[in-house]
Amino acid sequence: MIDILISENISGAAVDALTSRFKVSRQPDLWENQEALLEAAQSARTLIVRNKTLVTGDLMCAAKHMIAVGRAGAGLDNIDVKSANQAGVVVAFTPDQNSISAAELTMGLMLGLMRKIPQAAQDTSAGGWHRHQFVGTELYGKTLGIIGAGKIGYLTAMRARAFGMNILAYDPFLSSDNVLLCELRAELVELEDLLARADVVSCHVPASPHTKGLINRERLKLMKPTACLINTARGPVVVEEDLVEALKSKTIAGAALDVRISEPPKSGELNQMPNVILTPHIAAFTHEAQSRVTRAVCDDIARLLEGKPAKYAATKFNLPQNGR
Ligand code: MLT
Repeated sequence: MIDILISENISGAAVDALTSRFKVSRQPDLWENQEALLEAAQSARTLIVRNKTLVTGDLMCAAKHMIAVGRAGAGLDNIDVKSANQAGVVVAFTPDQNSISAAELTMGLMLGLMRKIPQAAQDTSAGGWHRHQFVGTELYGKTLGIIGAGKIGYLTAMRARAFGMNILAYDPFLSSDNVLLCELRAELVELEDLLARADVVSCHVPASPHTKGLINRERLKLMKPTACLINTARGPVVVEEDLVEALKSKTIAGAALDVRISEPPKSGELNQMPNVILTPHIAAFTHEAQSRVTRAVCDDIARLLEGKPAKYAATKFNLPQNGR
């Protein structure tokens, strides 16, 4: 029996520290082979994953000794939390540890889009000096529309405020007297209103049946022709083929995507568009965020193995409910 199975590339001082206290099996490629994963999980007490390992209901059933799954990250789209609840397996995750990094990347993409930084850099590196080709737009005085005003949406809006932007927020879970929205002087509006008024629309919602395809052809048509769309949340929130259409027909001016419907994505029309910035799901990939995320998940897994409750549980309970 091993104490901790790690099925993805997760490393650092916190993982090294676990190996001195527990029996750890590090298998960074295990996520690629679901059958091998299921087999390995049968003799593991806990499992640590990032976003590639599919933690299915079958896995929860097969892993008879498992007390907890640790997700090094915030999103839970690769984990069947409902099955974990049924199996009494704690799912520990790291909801806030990479929010600053995600907000900072969003600002970077926003500046990149509005000031054409990637295009200008590429052209200049290739020997060009075409200042007049790269006339951009200031953020100052423009309106940012935040779709989802949770931690990352809030931190992004805070930073945008420092640039002199006005903030619109759409979040069905908040009311207009929400203290954080008041602090931001953000106006809570309906999605359609936000899309029609914002100069930059930025998505910060989790993956769920309610957010799948949220930004589709009809909603893109509501945006200003000068507006840009940023998605650092989850790929399925934006219907990619509708976005391609909106960019080609100049319904909107530009887009930046850090997340895609399938990751890694196949090369397609978006790769050829000059007004599009594509990055490989790096919002959480800073040294600081990764170290916080790894430390938090390792701490919680160690706590659970020692019979203590998890600090950040996504399940209804923070101690295993299966008597293991
Ligand atoms: C998260 O959900 O924490 C980020 O998107 C990064 C990741 O998926 O690992």
